[in-house]
Amino acid sequence: MFIKHLELNNFRNYLRADVSLAPGVNLLVGPNGQGKTNLVEAVRYLSTLQSHRVAGYIPMIKQDEAQAVVRALASHDDRDVLLELELNRENPNKARINKSPTQKVRDILGYVNSVTFAPEDLDIIKRDPSNRRAFIDELVVQVWPRFAGVYADYERVLKQRNTLLKSARQTGAKGSSLSTLDAWDQSLISYGSEIIAARVDLIERLRPHLFAAYQSIAIANNEPKILIKSSLLSANVAHYLDEIEDGNDTVEAEFLKTGDRTEIEELFRLKLQSVRPKELERGITLVGPHRDDLVLLLGTLPAKGYASHGESWSYALALRLASNELLRNETRSGDPILILDDVFAELDAGRRERLAQMVKHNEQVLITAAVAEDIPSQLVATVFHVKAGEVTNA
Ligand SMILES: Nc1ncnc2c1ncn2[C@@H]1O[C@H](COP(=O)(O)OP(=O)(O)OP(=O)(O)O)[C@@H](O)[C@H]1O
Ligand SMILES: [Mg+2]
Repeated sequence: MFIKHLELNNFRNYLRADVSLAPGVNLLVGPNGQGKTNLVEAVRYLSTLQSHRVAGYIPMIKQDEAQAVVRALASHDDRDVLLELELNRENPNKARINKSPTQKVRDILGYVNSVTFAPEDLDIIKRDPSNRRAFIDELVVQVWPRFAGVYADYERVLKQRNTLLKSARQTGAKGSSLSTLDAWDQSLISYGSEIIAARVDLIERLRPHLFAAYQSIAIANNEPKILIKSSLLSANVAHYLDEIEDGNDTVEAEFLKTGDRTEIEELFRLKLQSVRPKELERGITLVGPHRDDLVLLLGTLPAKGYASHGESWSYALALRLASNELLRNETRSGDPILILDDVFAELDAGRRERLAQMVKHNEQVLITAAVAEDIPSQLVATVFHVKAGEVTNA
């Protein structure tokens, strides 16, 4: 898959951009703060409805403007598809595929796949569980786009269940609110287990690619391995709660070993029963995929808290390169678009060359850099200059 043409209107610092991208490597160069990341962010957002810089979409609309538009002509196997995304400050967002409006914005997912590697990805290794969940969930949705709906359903149920728990806490748990809670539990378990099973499945599929990518980039024998630390299994609930309150995420929990949906549902049901009094006391949902974490092992130690800075970089990069391989193998749209935002400057010469070697045959690669000299010469690229929200073909 590659993008032939990208058009932006009122997106970030772009009033308007109209760029014909090439297959293969595209290099965006320019001084700091000119719009290089903004441009690749538009591609990532169109492809995943996620940004590597913000949670919402409002910051992507140009200051003082009401609407931003991203339009891309994507091509795979000689078939073109025109994708459009309209981000509105006041009104609901809209998406169009070949000019036809989609029912939901998320229906645009699955048409263009992309994998982004950026310095922010160190957060996946070093910071809190939400970064690791975001990593895995973005990938789940790209491999199985219908999961965008499952996540939305889970979020909705979680929110409503939390509201119910809060009001039960205020009014004292009464019979009627408890039976309503039972009904919500059923949906929470059903959607939640689907998500957990998908994560287990995905991690299993990612494993060989992760191993290969880490060996290639780091040239080290340490084996990277991902485990799921699940709130469904946390042994000691009281301890678990204390940890949450302390903001400490080294929660005592076992690792989830099963990917069987029925077994996961059973674990979920049992765990919900045992935490019910605590949940009523606190007014929040304490178990489910929104509370789970991934443990990224390097050898026998977790990367978080143990890996060196260089190892953490290699790990983060390996996660993205493995995602790239996985999407190439598991989807029908060929290579995902690989976005490398500002990463070459951060790597030593050896890893730069190895990274270049690994990505140079990808169908399309978008690279941003403040100085072109940081990019290994083996990457023959179409070069664009970015200055004050204007892109020119060099
Ligand atoms: N919603 C917005 N409206 C207007 N300008 C914006 C908006 N969001 C970001 N910007 C501007 O875009 C610029 C940042 O662009 P970007 O992050 O793409 O820079 P860059 O070229 O990647 O720089 P660097 O080399 O430092 O990474 C900043 O000057 C910022 O003020
Ligand atoms: Mg940048």
